[in-house]
Amino acid sequence: MTPYYQDNFTTMYLGDSLEVIPRLDVRAELLLTDPPYGRVLSDDWDNIDRSSLLSLIDDTMAAALPKLAANGTLYVFCWPQVSDLVASTMRRRVNVLSNIVWLKRERLNEVARGMMRRARIVRMRSPGSETERIIMAEPWGADGAYSTRDAQAFAGVMRPLIDYFQQAFAASGLSHKALQDAMHRLTGVRYTFDRHALAVSQWEFPTRDQYTAAQTVMPALRRDYEALLRDYEALRRDYEALRRDYEALRRYYQPTAHNYTDVLVCPPIAAGRRDRVHPAQKPIELLRDMIETSCPPGGLVLDPFAGSGATAIAARQCGRRCILIERDEKIAEKAAERLDADNIRR
Ligand SMILES: C[S@@+](CC[C@H](N)C(=O)[O-])C[C@H]1O[C@@H](n2cnc3c(N)ncnc32)[C@H](O)[C@@H]1O
Repeated sequence: MTPYYQDNFTTMYLGDSLEVIPRLDVRAELLLTDPPYGRVLSDDWDNIDRSSLLSLIDDTMAAALPKLAANGTLYVFCWPQVSDLVASTMRRRVNVLSNIVWLKRERLNEVARGMMRRARIVRMRSPGSETERIIMAEPWGADGAYSTRDAQAFAGVMRPLIDYFQQAFAASGLSHKALQDAMHRLTGVRYTFDRHALAVSQWEFPTRDQYTAAQTVMPALRRDYEALLRDYEALRRDYEALRRDYEALRRYYQPTAHNYTDVLVCPPIAAGRRDRVHPAQKPIELLRDMIETSCPPGGLVLDPFAGSGATAIAARQCGRRCILIERDEKIAEKAAERLDADNIRR
């Protein structure tokens, strides 16, 4: 397949995503894309009815998932009125993690004033949109390999402490119920001590109060709490060292200062701006935050609905590679010019 545009970070293909994606030989860490909205804008590319839009999203997911890392991430932009439908369509193939609101706050007052003027004329019957939504998802089972490995490593490292508590419990001759009741009576708190201090999965180191109470009903718990705590901290350090070895199995998630919540505030690219080449053009800062959060440095981003190429510019700025696909040649040409100009500026 011959790319329409290529540089060290970006490869753009001209064509229909549903035909191009299956021919890609890649493994992307992030699918970040902005499909048509479904007759929200008057442009030709947005002349798609709701059910065709949902089929397009579903088919794109089906084609893209084999090209996405098992611990990868997906972000799909959509219009607020259809975000529930887009999320439920995606849910068939991926695990939806968040319905993020992109709030274009800086325009709020100006837009609200404009809407109020128009409302008098057209008698608006529902609120105007000042947001777009971004459905964030992961492949089903994305964290599975990590979680299994993690649980096994934790239980393995903590084994000496787990054995210490389990042996003391066996020696006490208590039933689980009797232990729970005694702990409740002694600490005044209903806490399933046996499910944490005596279990292998969900094992937790007890607090000083819990331990002191447990010592009165399980006399084999002879060790001093401070000494036990020192052992626990040493084992915890061993576990952290071990965990670093399989950290790469985990879905990458390093939120930037702007990305801690599910509301992202960023002004849109206003009409008339010199650098606006596409009516749905997304701000680079917004895309950069999402890429830095969910694609490891040096990783690969896939955007099958490229438009102005904003995703690739953002990816390049933060040291990630990007594959773009755009069906409309005029749009692809503008994106290529923009990518070239950005390359020269750098
Ligand atoms: C909402 S716009 C993307 C805007 C882009 N996020 C930006 O920041 O400029 C969607 C783009 O997808 C393109 N498109 C629509 N259907 C496509 C398909 N099946 N394959 C490839 N591109 C497609 C449209 O031509 C349009 O440029």
